[in-house]
Amino acid sequence: MSHPLIIIGAGIAGLWTALHAAPRRVILLTGARLGEGSSTGWAQGGVAAALGTDDRPSLHARDTIAAGAGLVYEAAAYLLAEAGPAEIEALYGLGAPFEREADGSWSLSREAAHSRARVARVKGDQAGAGILAALIRAVQAAPHIEIREGWRASGLIPDAAGGCAGVMAFDPSGNLHDLLASDVVLATGSLCGLYGVTTTPASSQGQALSWAARLGAVIQDPEFVQFHPTAIDVGRDPAPLATEALRGEGATLIDRTGTRFMRGVHPQAELAPRDVVARAVHRQVKTGRGAYLDARAAVGAEFPERFPAVFAACRAAGIDPRLAPIPVAPAAHYHMGGVAADTEGFTGVPGLWAVGECASTGVHGANRLASNSLLEGLVFGRRAAEALANAPQRALKPVPADPAPALPAEALARLRAAMAIEAGVEREAAGLARLLDTINALEAKHGEADALIAARFVAAGAMLRTESRGGHFRSDHPSTSAVATHTRLTLAEARAVHPHISPLAEPAE
Ligand code: SIN
Repeated sequence: MSHPLIIIGAGIAGLWTALHAAPRRVILLTGARLGEGSSTGWAQGGVAAALGTDDRPSLHARDTIAAGAGLVYEAAAYLLAEAGPAEIEALYGLGAPFEREADGSWSLSREAAHSRARVARVKGDQAGAGILAALIRAVQAAPHIEIREGWRASGLIPDAAGGCAGVMAFDPSGNLHDLLASDVVLATGSLCGLYGVTTTPASSQGQALSWAARLGAVIQDPEFVQFHPTAIDVGRDPAPLATEALRGEGATLIDRTGTRFMRGVHPQAELAPRDVVARAVHRQVKTGRGAYLDARAAVGAEFPERFPAVFAACRAAGIDPRLAPIPVAPAAHYHMGGVAADTEGFTGVPGLWAVGECASTGVHGANRLASNSLLEGLVFGRRAAEALANAPQRALKPVPADPAPALPAEALARLRAAMAIEAGVEREAAGLARLLDTINALEAKHGEADALIAARFVAAGAMLRTESRGGHFRSDHPSTSAVATHTRLTLAEARAVHPHISPLAEPAE
């Protein structure tokens, strides 16, 4: 009997993998409606690629490697950068409305830590929505893809011979199904929804890490979470974003008195690497000096046309960014770590693949370069699809399994608050121990929920990394080790980092 390829997730990585996996029969599972529930649709900046006449893929790779602070797998960075221009052309060919200049060249934005303007954009800050609409039209027209909307994956089915035999999923009526698959691709996106302050959909809770780890996959560099420096600080959950492209256009970061605070922090000021800006904004907010993004001079009256999504978010909060600075704070935005995967998405677990944000190929190292994430979904999604397109069928021996217990809403709220406080922009051992106490206590009460496993990987990785590098800053270990090493943890190893609840820990509820 022939079993399909199942792809879980309908952001850019999942959809691009599905499109290029023909002639394989693909079942695409998405818990939400197509176009909803993925970070892709919210992406503002665009897709980075060496498209300018002054640019080359080698320069893009070099910037990617530099931003990654010693942990970028260089071969992956070159693959990413070299494939970039063709992927933009391919998306444009599908109808993604990237902006072009009057002479036909690409309109390109400048973002932090890029040595060139190289971010291809769509209607100012509408990149994600424009790309997603084009991808959805394409998958809906593709005869090899069966789309199951409202099907919520809830775990993987183990195989008696080792590996993955399929997916457990709830249909839209809430009935649980075992869907057998010769191969499963995880494209579930972020884990930043585990943070109390995030720019990603609340449903992005690191499910792929938990599911893959339960089948024996290695989780790589889970401590590396990227905090976006300029989430709009108006108490919304998730927090709306003020794209970095605003700073590329000359918007400045000021304190309550109107002083530009990044000038004293880094030679590139507002366009310093994202982790540097996030820490500076965090310290401004923490010490009460305040942080505001001032786009009055740089964008001014053109704000509604040039940055419609940011403008709408500001107006909804009663702020007119043409006339007033925007209050900002860092928010969990992107996970550089994830399920360890090679550059074709293979996880090492037979039948299990991972692409996009939930995977860790090492392409981003310790700190992702702005607008490399959509490109990652395209480049590594296509590579996985090409590897899978003609992969032989596996003989399956599924082992019955049950989905993990769900975490009740109040327990999730407690976890999110603890993650934001203890595993945020700055971490230290005592806080990470408190976080692991919270995770242990919640697990003792509610069972080993997927959200708890994903959070445990972040906390354990952060505890073990006794240095500061890229997106991971330990206030008790502020220097960077001479030798850069990856964190690679199995579930058993993560559980062993802080297995017992400290005597002074608070009870779970
Ligand atoms: C932004 O537009 O600032 C976010 C882009 C990204 O995260 O790559």
